Amino acid sequence: MKFHVLTLFPEMITQGLGQSITKRAIEKHIIEINAVNIRDYTTEKHGKVDDYTYGGGAGMLIQAEPVYQACQSVSKGKKIRTVYVTPQGKTFDQKLAGELSKEEELVILCGHYEGIDERVLEETVTDFISIGDYVLTGGELPAMVMIDAISRLVPGVLHNDQSAETESFHNDLLEYPQYSRPEVWHGKEVPAVLLSGNHKKINDWRIEASRERTKKRRPDLYARYEEKQKALKQLLRNKKENAFLIHGLLCGTADLARRNEKFVMGYDRTGTRIMLAGNVYDGKEYIPESMTEIISQNPKIDEIIVNCGKSLPDAALLERKYRRSVYKSMVYTQNVSLPQKIRDIRKITVEQADMEFPQWRLACACGEINTRNDMTVYAGYLDKDPVGIMAIQRDSTLLAIGSYKADMKGEIMKSLFANHLNEMLKDGGLPYILVKEEHQQAADILAQMGLYTGKSEISKVTFD
Ligand code: ADE
Repeated sequence: MKFHVLTLFPEMITQGLGQSITKRAIEKHIIEINAVNIRDYTTEKHGKVDDYTYGGGAGMLIQAEPVYQACQSVSKGKKIRTVYVTPQGKTFDQKLAGELSKEEELVILCGHYEGIDERVLEETVTDFISIGDYVLTGGELPAMVMIDAISRLVPGVLHNDQSAETESFHNDLLEYPQYSRPEVWHGKEVPAVLLSGNHKKINDWRIEASRERTKKRRPDLYARYEEKQKALKQLLRNKKENAFLIHGLLCGTADLARRNEKFVMGYDRTGTRIMLAGNVYDGKEYIPESMTEIISQNPKIDEIIVNCGKSLPDAALLERKYRRSVYKSMVYTQNVSLPQKIRDIRKITVEQADMEFPQWRLACACGEINTRNDMTVYAGYLDKDPVGIMAIQRDSTLLAIGSYKADMKGEIMKSLFANHLNEMLKDGGLPYILVKEEHQQAADILAQMGLYTGKSEISKVTFD
């Protein structure tokens, strides 16, 4: 991931981040820091970039043109998400760090003095972010805080893949206390359970310790955690119908938006998809008014998934253009990995797919390949020969599946499905796949593998 930091003090950034873990990530080319001096983009002969504010007032303001030119020099016409760090922004948190870590490039603009001319902010900035309710002398420290928090979520930056997952804020709880040698220090003993070697007991103790600590130190977080537990309990009464939301909440890719006794509504982590589950399937339609309200207030939302309302388009889509598709939810409810005969299954790019599987777009059982940016393509190989392909969206909607070896068709398709479902299980979720109603062959194979089919019609509405 590449960070462009536009600043009057580039050394602060390069020196601050050129230590420890971020230093190693830079050396390994996992992250790149491009610190750009805004002063290099002024035409003023003494290198001046600031001036008095119109209307009077203390202090100087950074002028629009050098900032604009510095931005242009890094974006080179590309649309890159551009953050202005300011106490007037949205508060930075772990969720936002997770969202930003998915970007390939990020521009961070640091102000100094009284700030930056408003007109250039209007033209260049996509996000206004604050690191907390206090005022610093400049944006460099906030930029470094953000880069540190974002980088450690980029795959490969931390040694141990797990450590980013288990610690504070994952799953809305603070991290449990940890101990190292000696066993007794200042008369204080390490809790006995941690020496027991019983992993189940250790895990249970840690969850309980996390809960207690969160309740005491961060009652605000604990309240959110409890709401989410209540929502999950409600949704789990009907796993088959609600899996598309349960999975996200369990593995932290979705957050709770609203809940009452009739429904649970969630967002996916990117904030672009909203999911609504009526907890009891009674055949009645139910679209809460708050959903219409959320959609109309949030232009970032480009997709809606619901299992309790066929009339959703009319009720909630306002004036936007959309496509609507209908799916069945197929859910795997056991806690053991599915068998997988074909073991060599890899993620490939669409370009690779087009090369290795000529005409795969036509031959696939489910036909509908679009180039949505949330599509993953898996290919299966037998003795290095490509034998099967599957395309699936981030919300586990099946777009295509096909096999290229007639005598092993069933096995190949089962292995592709199993590989995907096992990954969802490993993430701590509830494995499920959304299958278009007319794609009976895929549904039959999944049923043979032990997946249950939900009764509800799952509607997915995608804005154009
Ligand atoms: N610049 C000055 N104070 C700041 C803060 N709290 N967050 C982000 N940028 C800032």
